[in-house]
Amino acid sequence: MSDDLEPTTHTYFIRTFGCQMNVHDSERMAGLMAEAGYKAVDNPAHASVILVNTCTVRDKADQKALSDLGRLRQHKKENDGVILAVTGCMAEREQENLHRLMPEIDLIAGPSQVRNIVPMLKDVTPGKGVRLGKLYSLPEMTTPPAVRPEGVCALVTVQEGCDKSCAYCVVPRTRGPERSRPVSAIFEEVSGLVAAGYREVTLLGQNVNAFGKNSGHGDSFGDLLRALNGIDGLLRIRFTTSHPNDVDEGMIKAMAECPKVMPHLHLPIQSGSDAMLARMERGYTVAEYRMWITRLRAALPHVAVTTDLIVGFCGETARDFEETLSIVDECNFDGAFCFIYSPRPGTPAHKWEDIPPRELSVERFHRLDERLNALVLSKNQERVGKIEEVLVERYDSSQKRISGRSPQFRHIRAVIDDHSLSPSPGDLVSIKIETCTKAGLEGKIIEKSLLA
Ligand code: SAH
Ligand code: SF4
Ligand code: F3S
Repeated sequence: MSDDLEPTTHTYFIRTFGCQMNVHDSERMAGLMAEAGYKAVDNPAHASVILVNTCTVRDKADQKALSDLGRLRQHKKENDGVILAVTGCMAEREQENLHRLMPEIDLIAGPSQVRNIVPMLKDVTPGKGVRLGKLYSLPEMTTPPAVRPEGVCALVTVQEGCDKSCAYCVVPRTRGPERSRPVSAIFEEVSGLVAAGYREVTLLGQNVNAFGKNSGHGDSFGDLLRALNGIDGLLRIRFTTSHPNDVDEGMIKAMAECPKVMPHLHLPIQSGSDAMLARMERGYTVAEYRMWITRLRAALPHVAVTTDLIVGFCGETARDFEETLSIVDECNFDGAFCFIYSPRPGTPAHKWEDIPPRELSVERFHRLDERLNALVLSKNQERVGKIEEVLVERYDSSQKRISGRSPQFRHIRAVIDDHSLSPSPGDLVSIKIETCTKAGLEGKIIEKSLLA
């Protein structure tokens, strides 16, 4: 893009696939582009720069991005001067293939290039080939300004990268090694968010509770939680995703002792079979996972625990799968994301041929999903008649409804029938739960908390 154009003539549209880290990377790229004078538009057809921020964790993620890019590539062919850029994890892993498959793409850059988005775009000459982004040598992690959606909850990256080597996973190859931001920088960012009206932060990391390890700054994840807990006006702190091998007593103690840290831990177990965990190279056994859950629940009796599960991994027998069903019951999870194993080129497991037949994995997936749905529904039913404290995230004035989350991350809606309460986003309200489905709870506001 030539510099002689007035920056304000540039418009951009960002499409985001993948996890919350990618969502936040898009917010950071939007922040940098806004700072450089680019204007956001909500339709790619009106944008001079179209950015597709991709995910590559499973084959389905690749397919979604490729089909979107197929359409955008056509749009670019019909509209001279439009810049098409691909960022994110697929861009990191598939640079050469993407370039070969779609030579019209102007820029292909991995996640470590987020901070360079503006200079990279300025270097692009429309229609003149592609710039391959490469993983830089990982300097100290900085967070550029972000454009976040208006609201109450904000995402904040505190840790990035993964030093584990699960046999099935591409993430260490797309996000690089583990590194953490300094506590002081995160404290400053969160304080700024509170001053701007945000009331809840979700701390993000590929292994968020590996925070501080390998960084040399000496602060642990527990130290980070304690520091943020001291920020006036901040009501809630959440974090995702934690790794079982990075849980420690310090983290559990901080969760138990910091009232703003919400009682919810998303802790992927992946499988209930030790044989599968060993082949996945997860680095823990079912007994070790169970031990951490027991300690966590002893310290925080009301904690919700959610997890990730993979079915149909290499060599998974009927018995391995039954063990996964049993661990789901035993751990009494409050929710889970289930995935069918997707072989990823470049990972060790990609070479292994003993993948269960697809129909069998699909059948296992449905059985597991059914079991989890029943568990979640029964957990939600237990809340009926109880009072939940909810941070109001949305207020729908036409329907006179509010929605938000309970401390345990349950989705809750309520009808406002008492106008004197008139809650607005950012308020804490007490809701008496009347009904539920597996998707969430519904009730009536009985009190607006004085805390908010
Ligand atoms: N770092 C986190 C998870 C990050 S990836 C952890 O290890 O706990 C998010 C989830 O995607 C994983 O927990 C896993 O369940 C799933 N996943 C990753 N690679 C996968 C693959 N090749 N096939 C299916 N699911 C996969
Ligand atoms: Fe992937 Fe394992 Fe790292 Fe999680 S811990 S990101 S599953 S390699
Ligand atoms: Fe996908 Fe990369 Fe996140 S592969 S899940 S966007 S870390």
